[in-house]
Amino acid sequence: MALAEFLDDLERLRGEAVQRFETAADPDALEQARIEYLGAKSGRLKTAQKGLGRVDKADKPTAGKQFNATKQAIEAAYETAVGRLERDGRDGQATAATDPTLPGIRPVLGHLHPITQTIEEMKDIMGRLGFTVAEGPEVEDPWHNFEALNIPLDHPARDPLDNFYLATAQQSFSGRACPARSSGQEAATDITADPRTMLLRSQTSTVQIRVMEQTPPPVRIISLGRVYRPDTADATHYPMFHQIEGLLVDRHVTMADLKSVLRLFASAFFEQRDVHIRFRPSFFPFTEPSVEVDMTWKDGWVEMGGAGMVDPNVLRAVGYDPDEVTGFAFGLGVERICMNRHQFDDIRALFQNDVRVLRQF
Ligand code: DAH
Repeated sequence: MALAEFLDDLERLRGEAVQRFETAADPDALEQARIEYLGAKSGRLKTAQKGLGRVDKADKPTAGKQFNATKQAIEAAYETAVGRLERDGRDGQATAATDPTLPGIRPVLGHLHPITQTIEEMKDIMGRLGFTVAEGPEVEDPWHNFEALNIPLDHPARDPLDNFYLATAQQSFSGRACPARSSGQEAATDITADPRTMLLRSQTSTVQIRVMEQTPPPVRIISLGRVYRPDTADATHYPMFHQIEGLLVDRHVTMADLKSVLRLFASAFFEQRDVHIRFRPSFFPFTEPSVEVDMTWKDGWVEMGGAGMVDPNVLRAVGYDPDEVTGFAFGLGVERICMNRHQFDDIRALFQNDVRVLRQF
């Protein structure tokens, strides 16, 4: 047999086989084609191999090489076809259910919770004013939640009815824990007097102490996070809510600085050019003087939160010298500010997580 004839036959065989494998519409058709071309006994490749014996001896190396190349090409085409049909099988259902002539449908995407959006925006605005974000734990000790903030043991803010105290293994909550309210209970049950007693922080002012304890002045931070108070949920209360705390300590800080920062913050957050800030005299143990902060909104005033000049006792508690540095602090309710911005008046809407409500923000 002439070499040219043998090579022609091989080439034709390769073309036919590859085409059959490529066009096999289902596994059965592919299997039939496999038997026809690659069948071990009487497949056409096997038959062609027999032709190799009839090629002139001198041409055998060339013919053998070409035979092997053809065999590999046909086998590769078969493997490719197997993969293709497997994929089709997996996609089969989706393919059948997809009508490419229909218009595209945008999948429903979620978005950040309004509280998270508010917090992110507050960080952004205060960041531009040079305040960095500080974090503190939600489970606190009495030193950071009260003592260092100038809230002594007998202060009503420490009442167990107003705080979530966490009993340690050695303590028990039998009866009323507060001695003032629990005539006859021995001192051992007064968990508020026990410095080991932890509690869920009732205010983010705790972070002021944690930061000042670890950093020498000047300090310029905000802290945003959850706080907890045992209030019954109603339109304006919730047992867990969020605060933004601000603290700036440096030489010669004044209340004018406090007012400027709050005004810049409010006008950026509410996107209003001429926001006015009003201070009303108030009392907080950790600031002196202390004020309630209001801002202009629509035709009136709305409350923003509390603020003041850091009390010298607080500065001393963290090792600062009140003759060297002064500072201002403020604490605002994140939910209240978020509710003002979006014009709704029931805090519970934020936590019931009804997507029909949340989707609107
Ligand atoms: N911690 C106060 C509260 O929870 C809010 C507050 C008032 C924070 C005055 C401050 C401040 O930093 O200066 O009611």
